[in-house]
Amino acid sequence: MHENLFTPVTAGALAAKNRIVMAPMTRNRAGAGEAPGELNAEYYAQRAGAGLIITEGTQPSAEGQGYPHTPGLHTDRQREGWRTVAEAVHAEGGLIVGQIMHAGRISHPSIIGQAPLAPSAVRPDGEVFTGTGTEPFEEPREATTAEVEALVREYADAARVAIEAGLDGVELHGANGYLIAQFGATGTNHRTDRFGGDATGRATFLRETVAAAVAAVGADRVGLRLSPGNPFNDLQDDEPREGFHAALAIAEEAGLAYVHVCETAPDAGWSAVADARERFSGTLIASNGFTQEWSFADMDALVADGKADLVAIGRRFLANPDLTERIRTGAELNAPDEGTFYGGGAEGYVDYPTLQAAA
Ligand SMILES: Cc1cc2nc3c(=O)[nH]c(=O)nc-3n(C[C@H](O)[C@H](O)[C@H](O)COP(=O)(O)O)c2cc1C
Repeated sequence: MHENLFTPVTAGALAAKNRIVMAPMTRNRAGAGEAPGELNAEYYAQRAGAGLIITEGTQPSAEGQGYPHTPGLHTDRQREGWRTVAEAVHAEGGLIVGQIMHAGRISHPSIIGQAPLAPSAVRPDGEVFTGTGTEPFEEPREATTAEVEALVREYADAARVAIEAGLDGVELHGANGYLIAQFGATGTNHRTDRFGGDATGRATFLRETVAAAVAAVGADRVGLRLSPGNPFNDLQDDEPREGFHAALAIAEEAGLAYVHVCETAPDAGWSAVADARERFSGTLIASNGFTQEWSFADMDALVADGKADLVAIGRRFLANPDLTERIRTGAELNAPDEGTFYGGGAEGYVDYPTLQAAA
């Protein structure tokens, strides 16, 4: 079934065996030193049937961490942990890129020991999960221009570490209200230096980050995820489409390996996936985002109609290690257990049964 999802495709230097991407998912199960280990390697290797795995969001610095026990990409120990993961995935014939995620204001002093850095001192509404409970967000500290320039370098350094570790590439996390999205949005970026201003000015942080990552590891190993109009993490943006178009122009000019777009909400009146197809000539990964769910038939049609090159799947991949096989054969799916999404150990992580195990 759904045979259009089972043809190979390339994204820059990445040669995927099928069109099914495992979406990035934070699972809060890093080991000591916020480094991945054998358990994480097992989890990702189980899902190597994907054409491409995108890892959970990974902080490029200790200050970029947003949640407890998320893995980093900035120490020797973390690099060696990712090497274990990359080798395990490659041994199963998979492909894996590391998602670089600086949380910006979506963090808390109890997690990073200081006030979070952000484009502007705008406190998010809501509460942060600290590992022991929830606390209200605090006002972040506005980064100086020099600090913003250092943030740009962090992404490039993390990209270098990812490639040294043997990961196949990196995805810059420009979606879901984290640092890159905070720079892009009107509600969170009130800066008056070159990193602020109109949609093009607010995209300066992305432009410089893309350029630095490309200089570090090559455009053919750098992807970018975007979710225009997504209000998650209290992101307020009066110009989501303008900002999205500015970001797509940056991706196009840089010749990125791929752009990964979360579709806009059904009531937005426009399609982010369609805009990306029109404005970005490289490989396009489409994701349904949090506001809708696509069936496998919907995804097959997207690829068959040339509207996207690959599709990303989150929760159904989390719960079904052999998801690609289940899609191909039309088999029943395991249901995801939300209670074990964020944190814990092997339970709800590496113990979802395969079809073979269930037989
Ligand atoms: C447990 C969980 C963790 C997630 N963590 C991330 C993340 O680290 N980075 C990211 O870009 N998206 C993250 N997402 C969003 C997913 O990548 C995806 O866009 C979302 O789950 C919607 O797709 P789905 O309906 O296929 O699950 C997460 C989603 C879930 C369920």
